[in-house]
Amino acid sequence: MIIAVDGPAASGKGTIARALAEHYRLPHLDTGLLYRAVGLSVARAGGDPDSQAEALTGCHFDESIFSDPELRSEATGALASRVSIHPAVREALVKRQRDFADQPAGAVLDGRDIGTVIAPHAPVKLYVTASAEKRAERRMLELQQRGLNPDFDALVADIRARDDRDMNRPIAPLRQAEGAALLDTSDLSIEAAVRQAIALVDAQLEGQRQG
Ligand code: C5P
Repeated sequence: MIIAVDGPAASGKGTIARALAEHYRLPHLDTGLLYRAVGLSVARAGGDPDSQAEALTGCHFDESIFSDPELRSEATGALASRVSIHPAVREALVKRQRDFADQPAGAVLDGRDIGTVIAPHAPVKLYVTASAEKRAERRMLELQQRGLNPDFDALVADIRARDDRDMNRPIAPLRQAEGAALLDTSDLSIEAAVRQAIALVDAQLEGQRQG
């Protein structure tokens, strides 16, 4: 069984995907980390993330980058969103994601184009979203817990800019895949969002059993 989870930054899709993987005992891939790895590698090599040719060199990243704490920073998220608009970069990362999705055990993948491009054949699809303000609030709490003091308006602006880039790029834009169940987490606790996600997955599976 493949579960495709898509949605914008800080919508809760990562937490939900991890919880679904645990609940259904499936391996999980956070595909955003691949784009982050490319963005961070390019920046560290002094390359320009907006140049397709230079961004492409970042696709040969060393696997050790996945344990680098900088991979999960806001700055790396923005770099990821810049390199991810290049078709050649997306193409270079497709096989790894499809191989993960198609492993015999099944899988949960979360990202922006899982239900539309990577695994359109996934029997279960979720589109997780939340208002930009709620997402900025969550980011703010997360950063405060790490001892930082972020500016709320700047966080909202960053989130809107990332949404705009992800939703309006010509290749694999972020959108709700056909057949994907919508889960708006704006007013939900993590526990409630996970409960609803499991209920939506079960409903899609049940719908398929009944043909
Ligand atoms: O999910 P995360 O915030 O880690 O993703 C970072 C960026 O990587 C996103 O803003 C998006 O531009 C890009 N991305 C993508 N396709 C995916 C996953 C992430 O374009 N499947």
